[in-house]
Amino acid sequence: MNNNMRGIRIIGTGSYTPPMKITNDELAEILDTSDEWIFTRTGIKTRHYNGGNPNYTMAVEAAKRALENAGVSPADIDYIVVSTSTPDFIYPITACLVQNAVGAANAACLDINMACTGFVAGLDMIRGLLYSGYNKILFVASECLSLHADFTDRATCVLFGDGAGAVVLERADKLFVSCMKAKGVSAENPILYYKQENEHNLPFNDSEQKQTEYKTCFLQMDGKEVYKFAVDAMPEAAKAACAKAGLDVDEIDLFIPHQANIRIVQTAVKSLGVSMDKVYTNIEAHGNTSSACMPVCLDELNKAGKLKEGMKLCFVGFGAGLTYGAVIIEL
Ligand code: UT7
Repeated sequence: MNNNMRGIRIIGTGSYTPPMKITNDELAEILDTSDEWIFTRTGIKTRHYNGGNPNYTMAVEAAKRALENAGVSPADIDYIVVSTSTPDFIYPITACLVQNAVGAANAACLDINMACTGFVAGLDMIRGLLYSGYNKILFVASECLSLHADFTDRATCVLFGDGAGAVVLERADKLFVSCMKAKGVSAENPILYYKQENEHNLPFNDSEQKQTEYKTCFLQMDGKEVYKFAVDAMPEAAKAACAKAGLDVDEIDLFIPHQANIRIVQTAVKSLGVSMDKVYTNIEAHGNTSSACMPVCLDELNKAGKLKEGMKLCFVGFGAGLTYGAVIIEL
């Protein structure tokens, strides 16, 4: 069979958006910023925070909702994959916490961390798992950026929100094409990063930093560099995926881009030569929820009855690494 026709079927979607909604004006009470600055530079009006609660709680809720929407019993799931760059533990992995909470006793578990590119990368990898013999896979992307944001860094913290989205996937003889790419950064200039520091004194320490002191760590970013990268990376990946699929860009019914910043999306879409009518965004209400952006969009579209059999969707994203990529699926 043509490899491009070894596709996937989305048999259910779910999402969880925590109830705590934070407006730009509320951020302006603790930061030197304004609704006008944030909205005109990013397109964001509100974002949701999980109120200090752990990330996995959102993953579990989104997973339960996707299983219910799919009408699939947890016992029939044979793999759970979780995409998160903001796990509550380094281990155990979040997928195991989800498995325990939803009662998917027969599932294998795996976490992936591709930062904001996690949903695109996960779809690509899960396609491989499905064709290696697993039948029903629960894929959850859950991110709790509020626990990692520096609320004294106005250029960064205002962009991010918390949320989770999930899909239940199986094999289907439908179009599936991916184009994953990366442009690795140096450790000296990682551009977009979150680095953990040791809290204790290491007994065998040969590093320049002889005694590592406890440092509170936050997500850090060179916004301008990320912006420049993203506006080229997204159209490049989407065009390459279309070429691989033998499609013109305008044959894609709907683009679901990473919801980083509305100006990045508009610039990338212009360079692709498609109309914004063919692009789904929810950044105004959610901000950037990293790898959770796309499955939350997908669930909103599903709930609104906007996903139709035969539609061609293009997921296109970028993230820390720097990584980027696009996946085209036929519904
Ligand atoms: O998943 C990927 C995540 N990352 C991204 O998507 C980031 C991509 N980059 C961006 O979205 C934009 O670079 C930002 C929105 C982060 C910043 O926009 P910008 O147009 O690149 O602003 P800038 O960094 O050039 O800053 C312009 C001014 C500066 O003031 P001065 O030095 O000109 O006086 C900043 O200090 O805006 C100031 N500024 C703010 N002012 C009010 C930065 N953040 C804020 C703020 N409120 N929240």
